[in-house]
Amino acid sequence: MPDRDVSAGLSESDAAALAAHALAYIRPGQVIGLGTGQAATAFVHALGRQVQAGLSVTAVSTSEATATLARQLGIPLVSLDDTPAIDVTLDGADEVDACLNLIKGYGGALIREKIVAAASRRLVILVGRDKVVPVLGTRGRLPVEVVPFAAGFCRRRLAAEGYAPVLRTNGSAPVVSDNGNLIFDCTVNPIPDASRLEDNLKSIPGVVGTGLFLGMAHTVLVWEEGRVTTMSRPEAG
Ligand code: A5P
Repeated sequence: MPDRDVSAGLSESDAAALAAHALAYIRPGQVIGLGTGQAATAFVHALGRQVQAGLSVTAVSTSEATATLARQLGIPLVSLDDTPAIDVTLDGADEVDACLNLIKGYGGALIREKIVAAASRRLVILVGRDKVVPVLGTRGRLPVEVVPFAAGFCRRRLAAEGYAPVLRTNGSAPVVSDNGNLIFDCTVNPIPDASRLEDNLKSIPGVVGTGLFLGMAHTVLVWEEGRVTTMSRPEAG
């Protein structure tokens, strides 16, 4: 991983406290999108307790790991095909800028997360203060998912464009996403024009998607020193 990829994350108790706060965004009868990663997992546990206490909701998962946990906790799951509209999705992020643009995918679920986010009326992001950056790319890493057939081609193209792609592995084996694809972690500097970078990367045949989530989040709940700060897109209220 790049040198600037300093670790960032919440303690288990802080993640649980932030997740408990996020329950305020849930109403009975809603369809809830469930994210992937530490913060999202804490939220799934909090929601599971509410369901066990009688809350009636259904959920769409962004990963097999989250789906397994949701089932264990008794949260009823539906597919996106069965439920095209999601009321609210709760997820984590790896970077958040002041306009609520995000980098996601350090946990590998970026494609399903982006699909579920796009299908959601509201996307609420849960992070610690260390994920809030002045400019996207500050942590130096942008995940890009590619189809396996195109792995060599995409690696060469990404390298030629200066992103020093590193195939994500687990030990010696490539990490395979829930979609059966591979992930390249690209080295980035603070990104001057994220929209242009998104267009450039997606124009490479074989690239399925990137970890850039631009204009998707409505609300970001930031945990810092025992309290929650809310960042909102102006139009999201
Ligand atoms: C999963 O692919 C990611 O997008 C995660 O949502 C993101 O990496 C944040 O995860 P943590 O809450 O584990 O930091």
